[in-house]
Amino acid sequence: MKKLILSVALLLSALPFLKADEGMWLPSLISQRIGDMQAKGLRLSAEDIYSVNQACLKDAVVLFGGGCTGELVSDRGLLLTNHHCGYSYIQKHSSVEHDYLKDGFWALSQDQELPNPGLTVRFLEKMEDVTALVLKGYKSKMNEDQRQALIRKNAEKLRKEAEKAGNGLRASVEALYYGNQYFLFVFREYRDVRLVGAPPSSIGKFGGETDNWMWPRHTGDFSIFRIYAGKDNMPADYSPENIPYTPKKSLRISLAGVKEGDFTFVYGCPGSTREYIHSAEVDYIANVSDPEKIGIRTTRLQLMKKHMDMSQAVRIQYSSKYAGVANAWKKWQGEEKGIKKMKTVAAKQDFEKRFEQWAAGSEYKGITDRLAALYAARNPVFRAYEYYNETVRSIEKLRMAAGYPMDPKDYYEPIDKEMFVAMMDCFDKSLDDSFKPAYFIQKRKEYGSMEAWRDAVFADEAEANELAFSIDSFYFNVLRPQVFELENSIDLTYRDYMRGQMAFDASKAFYPDANLTLRIAYGHVEGYSPSDAIYYRPVSTLKGIIEKDNPAIFDYNIPQTLRDIYAEGGHDDQPVCFLATNHTTGGNSGSPVLNADGDLVGINFDRVWEGTMSDIVFDPDFCRNISLDVRYILFIIREIGHASYLLDEMHFTSSK
Ligand code: ARG
Ligand code: GLU
Repeated sequence: MKKLILSVALLLSALPFLKADEGMWLPSLISQRIGDMQAKGLRLSAEDIYSVNQACLKDAVVLFGGGCTGELVSDRGLLLTNHHCGYSYIQKHSSVEHDYLKDGFWALSQDQELPNPGLTVRFLEKMEDVTALVLKGYKSKMNEDQRQALIRKNAEKLRKEAEKAGNGLRASVEALYYGNQYFLFVFREYRDVRLVGAPPSSIGKFGGETDNWMWPRHTGDFSIFRIYAGKDNMPADYSPENIPYTPKKSLRISLAGVKEGDFTFVYGCPGSTREYIHSAEVDYIANVSDPEKIGIRTTRLQLMKKHMDMSQAVRIQYSSKYAGVANAWKKWQGEEKGIKKMKTVAAKQDFEKRFEQWAAGSEYKGITDRLAALYAARNPVFRAYEYYNETVRSIEKLRMAAGYPMDPKDYYEPIDKEMFVAMMDCFDKSLDDSFKPAYFIQKRKEYGSMEAWRDAVFADEAEANELAFSIDSFYFNVLRPQVFELENSIDLTYRDYMRGQMAFDASKAFYPDANLTLRIAYGHVEGYSPSDAIYYRPVSTLKGIIEKDNPAIFDYNIPQTLRDIYAEGGHDDQPVCFLATNHTTGGNSGSPVLNADGDLVGINFDRVWEGTMSDIVFDPDFCRNISLDVRYILFIIREIGHASYLLDEMHFTSSK
């Protein structure tokens, strides 16, 4: 034990020499980071990570279903992702007789695997800098509209050219650094992806909303799919004749596990970050947008919860909606707190002052003031726009009236009636009348109270239709065009400001904001101290699941089998989840977490809420990604799924 403490202390004392693990790097440019990665522990070359000439790690990573990441773990197309990424597919296959969400699902043979129409996965074939081609024909006297038209035309040509060979090729040209650089991404898209296995939700969603964004965490957040291809291994529509896809590369699974200080990297598709924004935007996020949206959602969540607590049926109807509302609500709380703690507004203002001193007399002069002015114009309009989404446009009755698809079996009118009064009232009190439709102002006067108005709307479809129509018309025809125009001007200014920031700080390594393109983040396994006198160790175990287990609390009620297995003894140290310093965001869910040799040690599924400001500003003391230890996945497959035959396809290594 003493020895262990000593080695941890030694490690910790070495940590200050490791620089902050901020950054989401482009795989094709990873040679620029490889020296730093190797210095921190990586034992691979840049070509092992990204290459167009040989099979490499990128060939084992996919964009899963348009918003998550997945990875190949067998030569027969077997894929791992999160339970919450597979959730909607598992749900679609579920019924009262076969409740796969509740009980889990395990295909016992290939013919039991379940097809998922509409689900696709994309492999990156290649990515390349096409800035010169996209801007071909550009003349400095062109105005912005002409420039945009030219870019669209050139990008479209590149896309068509790249997709010409067919066979599932999909290409897109993406702007990086606010349009200072353009990259062409060429994917191959497979469209026969079948469900192979999923743990019961009491494992896959263990901890529910209570533990979401939190540490210590014990969620077994994984599901298993298999990619199928035609006889030629190329993408094909679903057919019983299709065969398991043979990947160019699948990941080896490490049985050696991780410990504090170990190098890790995450290969995946982060969705959206904004690291280079002006102080005015940070100020708006931390002092207006986040707190106001948190307040509104607190009301919505309390209202739903009150009814969900009273009825099991309502809990089932609203659990998915509740989860959706709660997820961002909790994230914003961490983001607001983190930005304030880091004093990011003041830090950015200081940066802007220094930037302007440097920029005096250059093309960048005055750019930060221009951005401040643009935000002053945008903020009130954008705030109203956000209020529409968070309040009146969230009322289900009005959504149905406006024709948005909704499953009537998941609708409970008493919730919606209370929601109507609360949201209409909040909307009315929070916004200036100039942001409301004339119809709203007139009817509000006529009805005198939101309760009277509610009774009319829920009794008379025509009343609901008219209100929904007036709200959507104002939203789509008045507010949205204004927001788009202002944001467009802001983005244009950012194009120059971004270039300016790169010139101002020429020695700094910049990475482009996330945009759902494939990236690499690297760091190491590390705990953190969320507040005074508390230190969170970075590894959680099955013992912690048993500590939380409580049949009376829905989120913590584990399957009896798991209790029985634990009672047999010997499983105290079964690892479940771990923390690391990799810079990740939404979209990184399901991403492979790899060790120094590129072997799979975990699957990313969350961040700690105290670090969610990393979408805007990264704090190495608080920003941690949360991963599921791959050995827990194997444990669940074996012990709960009794599906050990799946392990026969996988390749393991126990070397470190
Ligand atoms: N916080 C994780 C991610 O954004 C997991 C979300 C799903 N889980 C949940 N309990 N709502 O998106
Ligand atoms: N759960 C998130 C996802 O679905 C990842 C968490 C985050 O880092 O935002 O992508």
